[in-house]
Amino acid sequence: MIRVRENYNLKAHNTFGMNAACKYFVESDQEKELLEFITDYELDPEEIIILGGGSNFLFTTDFSGVVFYPLMEGYTVLQEDEHEVSVQVGSGVVWDDFVAWAVEHEYYGIENLSLIPGHVGATPVQNIGAYGVEVKEVISGVQAIDLQAGEVVRFHADQCRFGYRDSIFKHEWKNRFIITYVIFRFSKQPHFNLNYGSIREEVERLGELSLANVRQAVIRIRNTKLPDVKVWPNAGSFFKNPMVLKEQADTLLERYPQLPLYPVDEERVKVAAGWLIEAAGWKGKGIGNAGVHDKQALVLINKGGANGVEVAHLANEIKKSVFLKFGIWLEPEVNII
Ligand code: EPU
Repeated sequence: MIRVRENYNLKAHNTFGMNAACKYFVESDQEKELLEFITDYELDPEEIIILGGGSNFLFTTDFSGVVFYPLMEGYTVLQEDEHEVSVQVGSGVVWDDFVAWAVEHEYYGIENLSLIPGHVGATPVQNIGAYGVEVKEVISGVQAIDLQAGEVVRFHADQCRFGYRDSIFKHEWKNRFIITYVIFRFSKQPHFNLNYGSIREEVERLGELSLANVRQAVIRIRNTKLPDVKVWPNAGSFFKNPMVLKEQADTLLERYPQLPLYPVDEERVKVAAGWLIEAAGWKGKGIGNAGVHDKQALVLINKGGANGVEVAHLANEIKKSVFLKFGIWLEPEVNII
């Protein structure tokens, strides 16, 4: 059933725990209801937010527009043979519940993405990634409501222009589509991705190489590095790892031989933003109630009672000092409203 609320506080809908109200909050698990709603109202794309778990938003102010909160549920197996399975999943499903489900069913491909907060519907938008895996590797399609045309559409993964923490839904198609279902294709043949960081060692500590143990290893690593949102409200990595040209990286390496770099293509490399922030002296520090996590400097935290402006101010100070030291501008990964 559709529910429309006016002047609604989003505190419970953003993992930074900011107090911010929106003009309208529209919640539904039915495409038909949302289609009816949008034909009755004229919506300005600038005045729309499509919200999942709220783990990638920093509200610095109230929002005078409409927040859509799609809650489509369920897993539907569309196709299955001995090698592969194709599953359609509702956008309102909690991502980590889905990962647990896939692991239980012995479907390979998303175990490294365990414990990432948020809902399934947001995963294609920012092409979530962790420990050497990006969700684009298993997404085969996306179903959405086109707010402009007033109809349900389906996209093939190729149309989504996935990149590092990026897709077309952040650019040309921003706020045009409410994603309602995501279609995933998993392999049923055992294969693992254990090359990132200490995953392999953690799995070995747990015992045999299995999907369940890889999931457990990722959960353990995340729990030691990343702050629990219930204790330290946060939105995960606040910044993206910046891409720089190889020449710039080589110059930096001469001065900072320990700088962690990840090759992207012939010309570009990605630099570990957490390392830059730590080297600029911010790890475990902060300004007022806005802080930098002491175990992973890429994560900004609300130490209690911080408002969005304070966190945004801290982010700006970090950006400035990283630029002054390294000549690199960090770009936020979170949406700042
Ligand atoms: N590092 C530091 N100091 C820090 C943090 C990191 O020196 O305070 C160094 C680490 O030692 C390592 C490198 O930076 O050499 C990379 O660190 P890490 O493996 O923790 O990953 P990250 O690049 O900082 C990215 C994702 C995370 C994801 C991890 C693991 C982005 C923006 N972030 O972080 O995603 O969990 O890799 O794959 O790409 C998120 O998006 O919210 C998120 C947590």
